[in-house]
Amino acid sequence: MAESSTLAQTIREIVQRHGGMSTRLLQILREVQDHFTWLPPETLDQVAEALGVSPDKVRNVAEFYSFLYTEPRGFYDILFSDNITDRMLGSRELLHYLCERLDMEINTTRADGLVSVGTTSCTGMCDQGPAALVNGYALTRLDKPRLDRIVDLVNSRTPLTEWPREFFEVTSNIRRADILLGRHFADGAALRAVLKRGPEAILEEMVKSGLRGQGGAGFKSAAKWISCRGAPGDVKYVVCNADEGEPGTFKDRVLMQDFADLVFEGMTLCGRVIGARQGFVYLRGEYRYLLEALKATLLRRREVGLLGEAILGDPGFQFDIDIHMGAGAYVCGEESALIESLEGKHGVPRIRPPFPTTHGYLNKPTVVNNVETFAAAAKIAVEGGAWFASRGTAESKGTKLLSLSGDCERPGIYEYPFGVTVRRVLEDCGARDAQGIQMAGPAGHMISARQFDRRICFEDLATGGSFMVFDQSRDILDGIRNFTHFFVHESCGFCTPCRVGTSLMRDLVTKVHTGHGTRADLEEMRKLGRIMQVACHCGLGQTAPNPVLDSLDQFPESWERRLRSTAYEPAFDLNAALEEARRLTGRDDPGAYLSGQDLLIGAMP
Ligand SMILES: Cc1cc2nc3c(=O)[nH]c(=O)nc-3n(C[C@H](O)[C@H](O)[C@H](O)COP(=O)(O)O)c2cc1C
Ligand code: SF4
Repeated sequence: MAESSTLAQTIREIVQRHGGMSTRLLQILREVQDHFTWLPPETLDQVAEALGVSPDKVRNVAEFYSFLYTEPRGFYDILFSDNITDRMLGSRELLHYLCERLDMEINTTRADGLVSVGTTSCTGMCDQGPAALVNGYALTRLDKPRLDRIVDLVNSRTPLTEWPREFFEVTSNIRRADILLGRHFADGAALRAVLKRGPEAILEEMVKSGLRGQGGAGFKSAAKWISCRGAPGDVKYVVCNADEGEPGTFKDRVLMQDFADLVFEGMTLCGRVIGARQGFVYLRGEYRYLLEALKATLLRRREVGLLGEAILGDPGFQFDIDIHMGAGAYVCGEESALIESLEGKHGVPRIRPPFPTTHGYLNKPTVVNNVETFAAAAKIAVEGGAWFASRGTAESKGTKLLSLSGDCERPGIYEYPFGVTVRRVLEDCGARDAQGIQMAGPAGHMISARQFDRRICFEDLATGGSFMVFDQSRDILDGIRNFTHFFVHESCGFCTPCRVGTSLMRDLVTKVHTGHGTRADLEEMRKLGRIMQVACHCGLGQTAPNPVLDSLDQFPESWERRLRSTAYEPAFDLNAALEEARRLTGRDDPGAYLSGQDLLIGAMP
């Protein structure tokens, strides 16, 4: 650890680089951690002092985000992506293999402090897994030879910059393109359109287009922009939600990697329409590898007059974009939690209304849209609303980017007009033997083969873009169990129905999955799921039981074949729990053990 005066100086410099603004707290803590590999208590105190905020606030933020560490970590911090699709590609075996080769346990830091190995939620590389992060940078296509090499690189303390480039290669895998990905877009065209035709005309095109939010909820984008434009106040903000934490989704990664200009253009267009001068991209921590390229794109756009002061020579057109990195919290994709995080707080969803369009970032009117929504808006400004609306269905205009992963020959990005059937998608991606699909991530819908003629659109199957395929060889409950763990990990803990409900649901699913469940447990899951759907504070908890409830309906046989015949069995082994008490009291006689009848006391009917 640095001398205290050097430490204080380092932290003051970091805080100054962020303008001494407490809204930058998360970014500051990320940078402090990059410097020290973790956040020792004295660094938190120094950050608090330099920002003039309470040490408790800084500590709360540091403890909230899973990529911020208040305990020491290894110099190399390796986190395996723990999505079900990574597991289907063998990630668990590789995780064990790596730990064995490094001579350490999973979820620990090696005694020499050189390396930590653990797991994290989906890293958004499902089309090129098994994946992991090392010091926040994505590693793709892991296999044993690659891990052998990583062991050597770690043990020889080779800096990450000297690791083979191909280990970090992230390919876009665009398999099907339509109007968004397939058509050329000239940088600045949407901004010229708004300068020529005016914001009202562009809003009219947006209304005609019928564009709906592509983050999943499907709110009409024009209505959002109109509401924000009409909200009182001169200071407004544009926020691009690039948090993309839904397991199985990676289409925003591809847009940010290959179409960043289009996304920035959509944000700048929105700024002009609603009267905002500042935009933010909230980029998920797992996409750290994109940061330098995105900053370079922003710089180039400033240099050519597409961003900054007097855009395209118009002195009244000012807009700039800042990138804010997340730090491993799925709930921060929820727009009000995202705004809290942007303000430098921990990401707990706000009570709504009021909505962000009137009370958003710093309580100012704010448009929050998904990456894909901004990209589509830029195209609509150029090509017109009617052009966009000529594709899709009555209630779902245009196209949708799907992230395909799991058991298929060609995982990757597929762009379809809304209304495409699940069956058609399965044919295109080479999923020959599909048993079921998890649509829209763990919070979405589980679809069995009986439903493959359903259509992907807001009238039928709405999705933010995740499409995970399970073939006949898979146990559907493996996926369900993985999802329940995900929600326990990602619940922000603010409200009891979610904090407790997600844990109870995981325990019940685990009980059945491990062969200890009874019919009463299935009924209990249904009851618990229904309570969570209505009692949880935000969308995370409200949708967390979906995969369990769907699979109980769609795949009853998967649950039934795991059931025991007994009417009731407790969720834990009571006799085993009493072992320590028996040991302490020196008792080993039959009376110190509970009988089968004792265990049934309190059993459900
Ligand atoms: C738990 C949770 C996570 C979410 N994650 C994302 C996300 O990663 N990206 C996203 O665009 N929207 C996400 N949303 C939806 C956002 O709250 C919001 O509806 C969206 O950003 C609005 O943009 P759109 O209208 O363009 O879809 C999430 C919602 C919830 C409840
Ligand atoms: S539902 Fe879950 S994630 Fe949402 S506020 Fe409650 S505890 Fe937090």
